[in-house]
Amino acid sequence: MAKVLLKNLTKRFGKVVAVDGVSVEAKDREFLVLLGPSGCGKTTILRCIAGLEIPDEGEVYIGDRLVNDLPPKDRDVAMVFQSYALYPHMTVYDNISFPLRMREIPASEIEERVKKVAELLQIAHLLDRKPKQLSGGEAQRVALGRAIVREPKVFLMDEPLSNLDAKLRIHMRAELKRLQRDLGITTIYVTHDQVEAMTMADKVAVLKDGKLQQVAPPDKLYSSPSNLFVAGFIGSPPMNFIDCSLVLKDEEVFLDAGAFVLKLEGTVAEILREKGATKLVIGIRPEDVSFVNKAHGKILGEVYMKEPLGAETIIDVKVGEYLVKVRERVGFKTKIGDKVWMGFPLDKLHVFDKKTGKAII
Ligand SMILES: Nc1ncnc2c1ncn2[C@@H]1O[C@H](COP(=O)(O)OP(=O)(O)O)[C@@H](O)[C@H]1O
Ligand SMILES: [Mg+2]
Repeated sequence: MAKVLLKNLTKRFGKVVAVDGVSVEAKDREFLVLLGPSGCGKTTILRCIAGLEIPDEGEVYIGDRLVNDLPPKDRDVAMVFQSYALYPHMTVYDNISFPLRMREIPASEIEERVKKVAELLQIAHLLDRKPKQLSGGEAQRVALGRAIVREPKVFLMDEPLSNLDAKLRIHMRAELKRLQRDLGITTIYVTHDQVEAMTMADKVAVLKDGKLQQVAPPDKLYSSPSNLFVAGFIGSPPMNFIDCSLVLKDEEVFLDAGAFVLKLEGTVAEILREKGATKLVIGIRPEDVSFVNKAHGKILGEVYMKEPLGAETIIDVKVGEYLVKVRERVGFKTKIGDKVWMGFPLDKLHVFDKKTGKAII
């Protein structure tokens, strides 16, 4: 039973602020994913939790205990790295049992625990092999086994799937999530892959330049991104962004994007009028746009390119200087060069302040 709580965690390397005032909590048994581009401080956060880095400011709690001054070996966390870092000269059995042998646990108990973990991970038939006789997926399971066998309070995983080929990665994604659920061990998982984050996490913490951008369950992150960075980072193809200006005319509220003007009504209009920021960015997801007849159309564009993906087709529509991506599931007969009207429900519209990047709607 252990939550992990970070309060105002800050870590500098010389002039680089790798982690900048991050506060986030992984609840007991929760699967928290730290998501962000390379260099945003994910690994440094994990290393601070493990005790491999000393924070410059802030606190790390595991359970209810402040662990800032606790050496790594006393924190009861197990870390799984991107490079599995198996001992090449040891068998799989010896690799998995290594952390237990370091603890002077009786041999009979070690054997029992290794066997149990090997069965759980379906690697019981590999116990006599050396790491170089394993496939990438098998080596990855062994590394997981070595972490699991310790029965730690917390798992820390640093891009553990990124060395696997695409198919195996998708398979292991589900396996790992299921395993974490069954074991009920609080897990903090680092990745730069938004799909991995969305599919595995109970809760995602998005980071950029060492700063926390948003913490939310995957569906909330997707439907209500709190700023332009999160909105653009989550989703593939990403959300369409179009610059526009707020225009207030008598009682009416418009968003003028040059190539088209949207008339807004109801609460959306109220909120924008109240906020008063004039330089805005419209955001709309590719699946929220549909092709409609002129009477229902909000935006006129020209089909620029079609990208068939099997179950769906991504259609790039030229609107002024922008290419708007539209996700079409049904058969789409329109040809490149055709003029098309597009519509979307107003409640799917996102509006951001261009200057601050913050979501207004
Ligand atoms: N030991 C170190 N010495 C100097 N700079 C470091 C060190 N570790 C990380 N950094 C820097 O801190 C920032 C965050 O790194 P890291 O936590 O590895 O990011 P991520 O895991 O998100 O890719 C980067 O700018 C990186 O270059
Ligand atoms: Mg890293």
